[in-house]
Amino acid sequence: MAALSGLRILDFTHIQSGPFCTQHLAWLGADVIKVERPGIGDMTRSQLRDIPDVDSLYFTMLNHNKRSIEIDTKSETGRAVLTRLIEECDVLVENYAPGAMDRMGFGWAACHAINPRLIMGSVKGFGPGPYEDCKVYENVAQCVGGSAATTGFADGVPLVTAAQIGDAGTGMHLALGILAAVIQRETTGKGQLVEVAMQDAVLNLCRVKMRDQQRLERLGKLPEYSQASRGEPFGDTTPRAGNDSGGGQPGRTLKCAGWEDDPNAYIYFVIQTAAWEGVCDLIERPEWKTDPTTATIEARVQRLDEIFATIESWTMQRSKFEVMEKANGHKIPVGPVLSMKELAEEPSLYESGTMVRLPHPERGEYRSVGCAIKMGDSHVDVERSPLLGEHTQEILRDVLGYSDADAALATASGALGKERAAN
Ligand SMILES: CC(C)(COP(=O)(O)OP(=O)(O)OC[C@H]1O[C@@H](n2cnc3c(N)ncnc32)[C@H](O)[C@@H]1OP(=O)(O)O)[C@@H](O)C(=O)NCCC(=O)NCCS
Repeated sequence: MAALSGLRILDFTHIQSGPFCTQHLAWLGADVIKVERPGIGDMTRSQLRDIPDVDSLYFTMLNHNKRSIEIDTKSETGRAVLTRLIEECDVLVENYAPGAMDRMGFGWAACHAINPRLIMGSVKGFGPGPYEDCKVYENVAQCVGGSAATTGFADGVPLVTAAQIGDAGTGMHLALGILAAVIQRETTGKGQLVEVAMQDAVLNLCRVKMRDQQRLERLGKLPEYSQASRGEPFGDTTPRAGNDSGGGQPGRTLKCAGWEDDPNAYIYFVIQTAAWEGVCDLIERPEWKTDPTTATIEARVQRLDEIFATIESWTMQRSKFEVMEKANGHKIPVGPVLSMKELAEEPSLYESGTMVRLPHPERGEYRSVGCAIKMGDSHVDVERSPLLGEHTQEILRDVLGYSDADAALATASGALGKERAAN
C-alpha cells in the first residue's frame, strides 16, 4: 500500500508548478485525476515538441501516474461533471491565473460549498498586495523573489537559474501544505484553502541571501564573498556571489583537466574547516596547516583567491572524476560538474529509481526523472503520463458511478472531448 492510497486529487493544473505538485502526490500513492480542456489539454502537451503530434517531453515528464479526463468546464454538462468530481475528491489543486477559478464558478467559496471536506491547493504568482492580479511564469518568479538579483557574477547581469525554483519550488511548498491540511482534516473534519505564491516560495528558497542582507547592513561587508578578499567595496544590498559558497565554508568552482574544450570539466571544491588539513595534504602544502595566514578560517578568508588558485593548479592536472576520488579520500566535500548527458547515462541513478525509462504508446521509450523521495514502506512505480482524455469514460463510470447511458449522453454533448471507445 502506498502512503497516500485512498486520497483522491482533482488535478486542475497546467504547465509546471501545479503539475509538479500533483505528480509528487501521485507518486506517493494518491489517485490523481487531471482535468483538461477538450481537444487541447494542458498547453504543454503541444509545447517544445520533439516528435510531431506526440505529447511533448515537457508534458510527459510532469504528469506521470495521473489519469486524464477532458471537461469543458464552461459548458453545462462539463460543470455538472466537475461538480460531481468535486464531491468525490479530497483535494483540488489549481494554478490558473488570478480570478480564473472564480470566473469559471469554481472558486474556493463555491468548491467549499459543494464539498466542505475538500482541500483546495492554489498557486498564484503573488500573494495579497499590489501585484496579486498579475500572471507569473518561472523566470518572473525568480526575478521578483530575490533569486535573480543574487545569481550570477557581481559585474554581470542578473541571472535566472536552471533549477525551476519558481514553478517546481512552489509546487513542492504546495504539496507540503496540502498534506498538512489532510492531516488537520482528520481532527476538524473540514477542508481548507492552501495557497502558495511563487514570489514567496522563491524568497523562502533564497533565505540565505536575506541572511546576508542583514549581515551586510550590520558589518558593511560579507567576508566570505570573493570581492571581500579582493578588497572591493560592497554596496547596500546582497551582491551576486558568482560561485562563492552560500554558507560558512568557502567554496569555488575550479577548472579540471580538459576545461579548454569541455564546458563541464570543473569541480566544486569546498575548503571545509574540518577537512582543511586534508586539503593541505591533498595538494601537498603541509605548511598551510600551521602558517598563521592559512591555519584558521578567519585568516583563510583573507586569502581566498590565492588559496583557490593554488588548489586549481592541482585540479587542472586531473580529471574531475580523479579529483572527486582523491579529495574524498581526504573527506573533502567536492562535486564534479555533471552534464545532463552524464546524468542521463549514469547507471546508479536508474538503479535507485531517480532516473527511469518508460514505454509510451505514441513516443516509444523515453527517459524521465523519477521520484526523488524514497520511502521505506511506500514504493513508487513511475508510470507514463496519460494521453489526453484517456480515462474520461473510466472516471465517469468508476469514480462518478455514471451508467453507460448517462456516460454516453454526457459524452454526446461534446463537453467531454471527442467520443472514443470506452476504455
Ligand atoms: C501560467 C499563466 C501565466 C498562464 O496564463 P494563461 O495561459 O493565460 O492561462 P490562464 O490561467 O489565464 O487560463 C486560461 C483560461 O483557460 C480556462 N480554462 C482552463 N481549463 C479549462 C477547461 N477545462 N475548460 C474551459 N476553460 C478552461 C480558464 O478558465 C481561463 O479562462 P478565463 O481567462 O476566461 O477565465 C497563469 O495561469 C498564471 O499566472 N497562473 C498562476 C501562476 C502559475 O502557476 N504560474 C506558473 C505556471 S507553471
